[in-house]
Amino acid sequence: MIFRIYSLFPEFFESPLKCGLLGKAITGGLIDVSVVDIRSYSLNKHRRCDDYPYGGGSGMVIMPEPLFAAFEANETGDSKVIYMSPSGSLLNQGVVKRLSKEKEISILCGNYEGIDQRVIDSFVDEEISIGDYVLSGGEFAALILLDSVARYIPGFMSNEESLIEESFESDLLEYPQWTRPAEFRGHKVPEVLLSGDHDKIKNWRHEKRIEKTRLKRPDLYKKYLERLLLRE
Ligand code: ADE
Repeated sequence: MIFRIYSLFPEFFESPLKCGLLGKAITGGLIDVSVVDIRSYSLNKHRRCDDYPYGGGSGMVIMPEPLFAAFEANETGDSKVIYMSPSGSLLNQGVVKRLSKEKEISILCGNYEGIDQRVIDSFVDEEISIGDYVLSGGEFAALILLDSVARYIPGFMSNEESLIEESFESDLLEYPQWTRPAEFRGHKVPEVLLSGDHDKIKNWRHEKRIEKTRLKRPDLYKKYLERLLLRE
């Protein structure tokens, strides 16, 4: 899968793209990630890419010229173009799964007060927000999108089963986990996990997922119950 990230701060991505599973997927050729430096497409002799907003208001807006030039030089026409923005629709696991079926994804990172609307109108297929809070730049959000989508690419995860069991699948959070030792500073691992009875463990974990979701995420729990009712 091909990812292209458009950013005014390409150096932001240097170490995250070298680390962990994402780094391994890139060096192993499973995903191809390139970062396009928007500033290098500026026609301005000082490489300036922002200007004051028409109509007044605080902050600066990224100009259309460098972004149009960057897209025209790099886009193939086969890419899903996503603009990371707090005004976008909210990212969730369903959106992540849908995007993981794309062959090519281009991610545009905004900064300052945003980008000239003509860029959005001309190139962007979808605006995505990672949550109802404002970041200092779309770069943080772009990494989150990249990582969450890449996890669904076959071969990315060493244990692909965990994609089925994990949080948000079937609208439930993940069950709690323990590892050795069986007793640590007086705290014991629940007996059932040491029992070797796989059916019992499976049922117990399912109950824990329900209980955890009900307590921590009543919104998700409601969705889970609604889905259960629909199935009956
Ligand atoms: N840029 C700034 N805030 C953002 C958010 N919440 N999601 C995506 N991009 C952003």
